Amino acid sequence: MKIALGSDHAGYILKEHVRKHLDNLSYICKDFGVYSEDRADYPDIAFSVSKAVCSGEYSYGILICGTGIGMSIAANKFKGIRAALCCQAYSAKYAREHNGANVLTMGSRVIGPGLALNIVDQFLNTSFAGGRHSNRIKKITEVEAKEINVKSE
Ligand code: RB5
Repeated sequence: MKIALGSDHAGYILKEHVRKHLDNLSYICKDFGVYSEDRADYPDIAFSVSKAVCSGEYSYGILICGTGIGMSIAANKFKGIRAALCCQAYSAKYAREHNGANVLTMGSRVIGPGLALNIVDQFLNTSFAGGRHSNRIKKITEVEAKEINVKSE
């Protein structure tokens, strides 16, 4: 399972913490930046990670900014991306199980590092339940095809 990881400057420290955790667990993880706390625009990183997930090369994306909100808004512009902002493990579980989320976003100014790792673990260790939830995602995919023009290249 390959994971695309990214943050803006506000999420940089937490992103580094998450990257080390994923490395320790032997996940294959590509860091799409940023690589310092120099100010950066979260959409740039959200777009890179979203494209990587849309391409099929990466199973999941993890994006971190100050609140997690900007990253989720930006990532959800891409067809096929279902980005979920999670502040607790409960949301991460159901983002995967019910919503088939493929991008996790978190806010470094909202949650601490320990909780962030619990959220990441819950997200990566929960499978999509399928069944009635598949039909709901199909509805989203259909409207996406009609209404959204952003292409993942
Ligand atoms: C940066 O100050 C902050 O606006 C950004 O990290 C994020 O929280 C946006 O949603």
